Amino acid sequence: MTDPRALDPILAPRDRTDRPDGADRTARPWNDDLPHDERYELFEVHVLAGGKIEPNDWMPDEYRTAVLRFVEMHANSELMGVLPEREWIMRAPTLRRKLALTAKVQDEVGHAQLLYRVAEDLGKPREAMFDDLLAGKTKFHNVFHYPTRTWADIGIIAWLVDAAAIVAQQALRDSSYGPYARTMQKICWEESVHIMHGRDVVVTLMTGTDSQRAMVQEALDRWWGPLMQMHGPRSDRTKDRDLHWRIKAKTSEELRQEFLTIYVPRILELGLTIPDPALSFDKATGEGGEAGEPGEWRYTDPDWAELRTVVTNHGPMSEERLEFRRVSREATAWVRAAILAEPRAVA
Ligand SMILES: [Fe+2]
Ligand SMILES: [Fe+2]
Repeated sequence: MTDPRALDPILAPRDRTDRPDGADRTARPWNDDLPHDERYELFEVHVLAGGKIEPNDWMPDEYRTAVLRFVEMHANSELMGVLPEREWIMRAPTLRRKLALTAKVQDEVGHAQLLYRVAEDLGKPREAMFDDLLAGKTKFHNVFHYPTRTWADIGIIAWLVDAAAIVAQQALRDSSYGPYARTMQKICWEESVHIMHGRDVVVTLMTGTDSQRAMVQEALDRWWGPLMQMHGPRSDRTKDRDLHWRIKAKTSEELRQEFLTIYVPRILELGLTIPDPALSFDKATGEGGEAGEPGEWRYTDPDWAELRTVVTNHGPMSEERLEFRRVSREATAWVRAAILAEPRAVA
């Protein structure tokens, strides 16, 4: 369950500007009244040395916009990501599974709530974020634009989609934007429980009947393409401003390599086949293997045209899921109106 206090500072105020190099913890000189260029330079020095930025700190507009865009997309994905799973709550095979799935869905909505709060602090009202999401002006992750056809999809989503997400999210626990980094600590803890739940669903099916095993394989065959697209195309580290400012820590290819290194052996160990004949680990090149060891995963290039089509809301379920959100937003408007209404004076 979401703990609304999770966004409260976990660290003492003086530690919130802590820098790994042990530099002065309390000095935030770029907040002083200085000419823009000087301020900008001090801000950069602080961020590049591993310091955190807090909501009340001065920050360049480009930094504020970049963090906001990143966190808003993340919040949208948590919110829209529950819809494929929600469809299976009433169809879960046992009461235990139904409880676990309900708890996961509740966690994900809680993640959206926490992240929208982080984004709001950066200056965009929540209603404006919903307006933009529902109008198709902002995006959510590709994997949530696809249908869930069988119970095995629920296992594959919780196990592998959440795993691909946690690879990225773990790297965000060290984001330069303090509230985001702290929120990710809580989210990662819950995501790791989701992964265990998903793996348990998959393992149960894989140790069941032939048709159950076939159902998991069929689900993996459908989800592999979107999973490989999920982190996005390769990009140039030196041109990525989100990396420069430590809003995020790893490139899309580094994340994909890490996901493959951890999960390919786990998928194969269960007797599943990965639907990519070109997938192999090349020990001679790259640095994508275990920490410090050379090596890189080779794979069939993901279908980037499909990714573009899907994330611009032309995926198989994009419109249906957005429409569901529009209808439920309208249907629950009275709750917000009642809660947010000015208290009336009692005569
Ligand atoms: Fe989540
Ligand atoms: Fe999750």
